[in-house]
Amino acid sequence: MAEELTYRPARSDELAAAARVYVLADNDTDQRLHGRSLDEVPRPDDGEETAARDDLALLHADAPDRVWVALRGDEVVGVAAAAIRERHWHLVYLFVVPEAQGRGIGRELLERIHAVGIAAGCDLFSLQASDDPKALTRYLALGLGPHPPSIDLRAPAPTFPPPRVDDGLESHPLDPDDAAVMATVGDIDRLVRGVRRPQDLRRWLAAGAAGSLLTRRDTGAPAGYYLVSDRGEQGRIGPVAAIDEERFAAVLARALVAAAASPRAGLAWRIDVPGENRGAIAPLFAAGFRPRRLSNVFASAPIGRFDRYAYHDEDLL
Ligand SMILES: CC(C)(COP(=O)(O)OP(=O)(O)OC[C@H]1O[C@@H](n2cnc3c(N)ncnc32)[C@H](O)[C@@H]1OP(=O)(O)O)[C@@H](O)C(=O)NCCC(=O)NCCS
Repeated sequence: MAEELTYRPARSDELAAAARVYVLADNDTDQRLHGRSLDEVPRPDDGEETAARDDLALLHADAPDRVWVALRGDEVVGVAAAAIRERHWHLVYLFVVPEAQGRGIGRELLERIHAVGIAAGCDLFSLQASDDPKALTRYLALGLGPHPPSIDLRAPAPTFPPPRVDDGLESHPLDPDDAAVMATVGDIDRLVRGVRRPQDLRRWLAAGAAGSLLTRRDTGAPAGYYLVSDRGEQGRIGPVAAIDEERFAAVLARALVAAAASPRAGLAWRIDVPGENRGAIAPLFAAGFRPRRLSNVFASAPIGRFDRYAYHDEDLL
């Protein structure tokens, strides 16, 4: 039977259905490729779908064409969504419901969301991929190549280091109303993350994250910055960015000390580290972090200087 398929930017009232597509496709992939023990089977109310809907709403608020849907009649059967920050396009979602996979819907969606990036002037394209051969096929066909995977590290009971007074750094709390500090953090993002993204920093701070710009005590020059947040179900460390690779450990140590100051005793913590950042691993292991999984990273070129960076999260980097 011929299928009538439509591709177009998502309407706000379709984001919940698009999040459902993600949950169905993601669970099916996990089962198919990795198997799953019973205690890993997600409960219907585990928040995964709500979190995806919130993520999609955030991207949709940037511009409606940052989220595309594939429709069979009026049923959403596929979703593609991307975050665009200056010259950088990052694919956050590409999912097709299991029964409609392998018939070209993903290809159509990816072509359209990629074209949105080109039209926005992007020349740097990236994403984190599942192990599904169909996804790998699509991304390699798009001309993206594998980069070092990102590492999701968790500390259920962290042992944060004590503060060090001799690290040569001066701390300036991140205050969204302090234009000079925010501009300097933007400059660091441009150098290390690859692009500025002031809207993300402001949103994270408004949601309760705290952090500091760090300057060198000897020269007064910027050294890096970090954010930490203890507001969610688990604490998050990141972004952590150092202008010089050899100073990453000191900037990370400041972030860990800030996390240790959280009043939420017993909180588990998470940090996502690019595979390029070898220097992050030993101090994170010492603080009780252990790897949970690696994610495939595909990109058209290096995005930033990731040997001295830790992400905020896998979607917005
Ligand atoms: C990845 C995904 C979005 C692709 O969408 P899709 O509609 O299934 O993909 P398409 O039919 O457009 O393309 C599949 C490609 O994989 C190839 N392929 C490789 N292995 C395959 C397999 N086992 N079965 C079917 N196709 C396969 C196909 O030949 C096709 O390439 P081609 O167009 O060059 O011939 C979809 O399969 C999906 O949702 N997968 C599960 C979730 C996932 O991994 N999402 C990606 C997250 S990064």
